[in-house]
This record gives sequence, C-alpha cells and structure tokens, in this order.
Amino acid sequence: MKFLRSFGFAAVLFYLPVYVLGGSRTSPPAGAVIVPTSGEFQTISGAVNSLPNDGSSRGIFVYPGNYTEQVSITRPGPLTIFGYTYDTSTYKSNTVMIQYGLSAKQTGSDDASGTLRVHKDNFRMYNVNVKNTFGIGSQAIAISQYGNRVGFYGCSFIGYQDTVLAEQGAQVYLKGYIEGAVDFIFGQTGQAYFGGNVIAVSSKGCVTASGRASNDNTSCRYVFNQNTITLTPGAASGTAGHVFLGRPWQDFAKVIFLNTVVSAPLNTSLWSVWNAGQPNTDNVFFADFNTTGSGVKGAHRAKFSTLLTASQAAQYSISSAVGYDYSSWVDTSYVV
Ligand SMILES: *[C@@H]1O[C@H](CO)[C@@H](O)[C@H](O)[C@H]1NC(C)=O
Ligand SMILES: *[C@@H]1O[C@H](CO)[C@@H](O)[C@H](O)[C@H]1NC(C)=O
Ligand SMILES: *[C@@H]1O[C@H](CO)[C@@H](O)[C@H](O)[C@H]1NC(C)=O
Ligand SMILES: *[C@@H]1O[C@H](CO)[C@@H](O)[C@H](O)[C@H]1NC(C)=O
Repeated sequence: MKFLRSFGFAAVLFYLPVYVLGGSRTSPPAGAVIVPTSGEFQTISGAVNSLPNDGSSRGIFVYPGNYTEQVSITRPGPLTIFGYTYDTSTYKSNTVMIQYGLSAKQTGSDDASGTLRVHKDNFRMYNVNVKNTFGIGSQAIAISQYGNRVGFYGCSFIGYQDTVLAEQGAQVYLKGYIEGAVDFIFGQTGQAYFGGNVIAVSSKGCVTASGRASNDNTSCRYVFNQNTITLTPGAASGTAGHVFLGRPWQDFAKVIFLNTVVSAPLNTSLWSVWNAGQPNTDNVFFADFNTTGSGVKGAHRAKFSTLLTASQAAQYSISSAVGYDYSSWVDTSYVV
C-alpha cells in the first residue's frame, strides 16, 4: 500500500457516491467498480484517457500524491474527479496535487498553458489542488475552464498571473483556495459564482480581469459571495496598496463582490483602470456590498465603481450568476 500511496494511482468508479460534507473520503465507496488494478494508471491523464468517449457518467478517485502532468478533459459524458481527503468540506486537508509549469509565452495561448484544461460540460472536481508552477513572467494558467455546468468543491488553484481562466459556461468555485497576483481570475464569456473561498494574493495586481465585451445579459458575470481576501505568507514586499479587486480587460467588465472579508491591504480605490492609456471604464459594472476587514480601511472607491445597497445586493446570487436551475447541477451542500 505504501508504494501505491506514494506514487498514487487513479481508479475509475461507475457509481457517483454521495458523501456527507465534512466526512472523509479515503477509499472508493462500496459498490464502485474500480478500474484498473494497481499500477496501470500512474497518472490522472491515463485514467481520463481510459474512459469511453461517450455520454456515460464516470468518476475517477485519486489517491494521495503529486501528479506532475498536464490534464486535458474532453469526453462528452458527465465526469467527477474525487481526491483522497480526511475532510471533504475544505481544501485544507487535500492530498492530491496536479502540477505543471507551462506558460502562454511557450504554448501560444492561455488555454494551452493550463495545468488542468476542462473542455467539456457537466464536470465536477472535489478536493484536488491544481498548480501552475511557471511563476513570474507570462500568463500561466492553473485551471482553464470552458465547460458548462462545471463545479469545483474544496479545490485549490495556485499560480501567479492568470491562475483561473473562467472563460466559458456556467461554473462554481466553492469552499476552495485561489492564489495569484496578476489578473488571476479572468475570462470572457464565463458566468461564475465564487463562494466561501480563500483568495490569496502574493504580489501587486488585480484579483479579477473581466473580459466581458458587450452588454448582453449573461456573459462574464462573476459573482463573489463570502470569500476572504488575504496576503500569502510569503507575499512580495511592496504589495500593500497595490492590490485591487479588479480591472476591466474589456469595456463591459462585470464583477460583484458580496460580503467579502479583506485582510490584504487593498488600494483605497478598490478597483483599477485597465491601464492609464486605455482605462476601459465607461461601461463597467464593478460593485461591492458589505466589504469588511483591515484591508479596506479608508476605502475611497473609484468613481467608475458602485457600492451596492442591501436591496441592490440581493439581486446578485448564485442563481443570478449561473442560472436559476443551479441546484440541478451544483452540489448545494457547498453553497454559501
Ligand atoms: C507532495 O509534495 C509536497 C511538497 O513537496 C509534500 O509536502 C507532500 O508530502 C507531497 N504529497 C504526497 C502525497 O506525496
Ligand atoms: C436583457 O434583459 C432585459 C431585462 O430583463 C431584457 O429586456 C432584454 O431583452 C435582455 N437582453 C438580452 C440580449 O437577452
Ligand atoms: C493606489 O493606486 C494608485 C494607482 O495605481 C497609485 O497611484 C497609488 O499610489 C495607490 N495608493 C497607495 C496607497 O499605494
Ligand atoms: C457581511 O459579511 C459578513 C462576512 O461574510 C457576514 O458575516 C455578515 O453577516 C454580512 N452582513 C450583512 C449585513 O449581510
């Protein structure tokens, strides 16, 4: 067993188990069919690639380990990846790490640099950490997300520039951890809800860079609720005062932060222009409500942003972000 644990292996389940939030998940549940026998798949991509390219619903259970590989998922049927953990309710007990170190400069696109690339609908992942180890100097994506009805529960995403590409489709990030410095939650037409996460800032930059480009009713609505924004323990010196909730990659950027507790020392304007020569602020909707904590002391919000009233804030929720039928695909035990 020691051999298996230290190298890790992935097994495939046919029955998607229901776990009690906060319990452990240290073996594939009873009734699950486990494929293959030990040793056949030492990588997560090996397990992914073994699945039939059809509409059947599948699961992958991953034992503890650091998996150094890029994982790309395209199969049509629903898929859930479960990481081994003693506490499903949080990212803090995760034992599975997928890591890779490609940058957009090397690969030619943000998407191609992603450590985990999701190009499929109906995907879920529980208690897995995903890291892009490239570091400073280029866009280098940890999760590149293009699917519709996709959920991440108790997962960590770690990078520096452009960690989370929430590019397309309805998606939720719940009770996880997201780390970066520059524009590290971004995308163009994605509709995303972020609830109960720790968002950790490691250097100067903007938490979000919304690329919503037109005034349609749905695209790129990023709604954040009950997250905390902190500095990483090793944050670069000089970060204080140079962190912003967001800047507009495109003119119709739309980002809403509700009930956020901020200890990272934000710039008092809270929101930034794209850059001095091209502010992109004429049509943005940058809004917050009930933002508290030492990091927003003395806030003097940028003119192009909005401080919501309680009744305005009530219009923004998981259902307005990802659809009123969200409970048909989101694991609601993680929703805050
Ligand atoms: C993965 O790597 C980290 C950092 O090197 C280490 O602390 C951890 O024990 C490793 N996990 C496993 C399951 O081998
Ligand atoms: C957007 O919403 C408004 C008000 O609900 C509606 O009148 C309009 O037709 C919608 N536009 C699109 C492109 O769906
Ligand atoms: C806030 O940001 C502006 C624009 O980047 C900058 O000029 C100013 O120095 C920042 N404030 C602090 C307190 O660092
Ligand atoms: C403000 O946000 C905090 C932290 O999420 C929450 O505990 C509190 O209930 C919120 N207050 C209101 C008025 O919503």
